[in-house]
Amino acid sequence: MRKRIYSLLLCGAMLTASLFGCGNSEGGSTAAGNQTGDGTTQTTTSKDGGLDVGIVLPTKDEPRWLQDQKQFDKILGEQGFSSKVLFSQGKAETEKTNVEALINDGVKVLIICAQDATAGGAAVQEAKDAGITVICYDRLITDTEAVDYYVTFDSVAVGRAQGQYLIDNAPAAKGVPLYLYAGGATDNNAFLFFQGAWEVLQPKIADGTFVIANSDEAEKLADKAELTRDEEAKIIGQITTDWDFNVAKSKAEAHLTANDASKKGDVCILAPNDGTARSIADAFAADGDVKTYVITGQDAEVASVNYIMNGKQNMTVFKNTSILAADSCAMAAAILKNTTPETATTYNNGAKDVPAKQTDVTVVTKDNYKEVLVDSGYYTQDDIDQAK
Ligand code: BGC
Repeated sequence: MRKRIYSLLLCGAMLTASLFGCGNSEGGSTAAGNQTGDGTTQTTTSKDGGLDVGIVLPTKDEPRWLQDQKQFDKILGEQGFSSKVLFSQGKAETEKTNVEALINDGVKVLIICAQDATAGGAAVQEAKDAGITVICYDRLITDTEAVDYYVTFDSVAVGRAQGQYLIDNAPAAKGVPLYLYAGGATDNNAFLFFQGAWEVLQPKIADGTFVIANSDEAEKLADKAELTRDEEAKIIGQITTDWDFNVAKSKAEAHLTANDASKKGDVCILAPNDGTARSIADAFAADGDVKTYVITGQDAEVASVNYIMNGKQNMTVFKNTSILAADSCAMAAAILKNTTPETATTYNNGAKDVPAKQTDVTVVTKDNYKEVLVDSGYYTQDDIDQAK
């Protein structure tokens, strides 16, 4: 069997993620971060004049990354790290400039969620050359040796959960139209999500339960259980949303315009995340020939929790950003203390096996959103109500 690069290599006992497991930074001197005019957050520099931890996130235009920022500010502030959070606003060039700004600030540990898995390589190489330890956050930077650690959710499990939800909740009929959508093709996670979804959906496509309604590349590969990266790229190239609500909406509208009523009726939709799910759902709801749809999501954004409560979206996959942020802070703390961070697995990024820590994900529906998201304290009911 072909060995898949960029894939998870299990390498040891499962270690439990420690919530808020950060140590104090040596020389750290600051309290919680201050919000600046452009939405970034910054604390004062450490006593030795540098910056303990610099964080680069993809965009502040998606609620998902604002959740991560909130967690970082809270944890790093509590632990006394000096830190700065910068956003790349969907641009690999801004990401590179952000990394360079942090290098100029004398950052010691860089936590980066790359905008572009390949382009990110040049930015982290500059950081490595400056002696900085690099932690990939949520998204893996590929084809470079300039990454030291990776902190992530189980992204293949996200896709599996989405696919399985569609199987379990599809109309009881043969030949259900299946619309496939994917994330941005420059994000390695888009491949992992699709890989997981395909793994469970493909047998149901092959046996005729589902009929693919919007990708002839996927139709051509309908009998293939395990896809190569190139095959995945061909399908994703057709069904990508670029992680952009507007792209997702116009693509869904174009698919609906191109299809006749035989590909409508009661349908299932694989939507990669909540932002794209809401706009795809709106497009399907507006089509007179679509009677019912079942649609997936990811991130448990408050707007999607409302969609789920109102029956406009069926599920989301909750990824607890407080655990991910805490795990990266714990790694940063270990590095700042010159000790080896705790890892439990490795991911191959095409150039090396990157020591990694991985967190499980949870399926959220109308039935359990309160218990998982509100009773746990992740959101207040007010947070959810305000997004109505
Ligand atoms: C993240 C998702 C997010 C998406 C779009 C992915 O890499 O894992 O949580 O919805 O990017 O920003």
